[in-house]
Amino acid sequence: MKPIRKAIFPVAGLGTRFLPASKAMPKEMLTIVDRPIIQYVVDEAAEAGIEHFAFVTGRGKSAIEDHFDRQPELEETLASRGKTAELKTLEACLPAAGRTSFTRQQAPLGLGHAVWCARDIVGDEPFALILPDVLVKSSPGCLKQMMDAWRELGGGNLTAVEEVPRDQVSSYGVVGVGHQHGRAFELDGMVEKPKPEDAPSNLIITGRYILEPQIFELLERQEPGAGGEIQVTDAMLKLAEDRPFYGYRFDGTTYDCGSKIGFLAANLAYGLDRPDLGDRLRQEIDALLTPTA
Ligand code: UTP
Repeated sequence: MKPIRKAIFPVAGLGTRFLPASKAMPKEMLTIVDRPIIQYVVDEAAEAGIEHFAFVTGRGKSAIEDHFDRQPELEETLASRGKTAELKTLEACLPAAGRTSFTRQQAPLGLGHAVWCARDIVGDEPFALILPDVLVKSSPGCLKQMMDAWRELGGGNLTAVEEVPRDQVSSYGVVGVGHQHGRAFELDGMVEKPKPEDAPSNLIITGRYILEPQIFELLERQEPGAGGEIQVTDAMLKLAEDRPFYGYRFDGTTYDCGSKIGFLAANLAYGLDRPDLGDRLRQEIDALLTPTA
């Protein structure tokens, strides 16, 4: 069984739900407290043991590449001013030299197409796919939990799933639950945006996957699906016909930072958890929620 060494981060989307903020700045660079969203997911991958970080970018996304590079002038200025803590913070954000790849999706044809664009970088080995929109607040991180489960299962494909109220399933991909293996279970079908009464469960596909390289051949032939985009779920459905495919109920709380409400909630949740900010933020929230006479 080949180990999982690489993770794909698709960051080529237009981020229309965040206009005008995402007009000149990638939405993946929006900050949760004081770090860009993309930094959280790269840290999650590093914690899980990922060695190579493959970004599928697009036009207007070069700030992401700059973020994961050195900034010599800034570093020199910080050093000359004795700002050691800030220098350490910058150092901790940086993947090791040669451990990142950036390729461009020339047009935003869908998530499946973005993943396919990274096929040469990944090659013939299993890989992790992380959607930066989805932050999972957990310890250990969601991908680490999944990689441990994947090793215990002896490989295959794995998608993170989470429970939602049944009346909300129609906005998501929903999985059917087969034989259980601890927190993992064999997938018994996947349905895109079902009516609540037709849904096989209330478990939805969330933004973390471990996939075998066979997905690339399927993506190459994949016709556009929902919204006229090449969907990764359609290719996963085909993959599940021939290859072992599991769902994994991770332990953690998700924030859909691709939506305004999820983004705001993530800022509060991560801010409240910060030793340097939590108490003060709680006071600010209390003051906002206390009716004034
Ligand atoms: P989303 O559909 O949530 O992101 O895709 P979006 O299209 O950027 O945002 P909205 O809906 O217009 O507001 C999930 C992830 O897949 C990437 C996005 O960058 C995001 O991280 N993606 C999506 C691509 O890389 N390429 C695509 O063609 C589509």
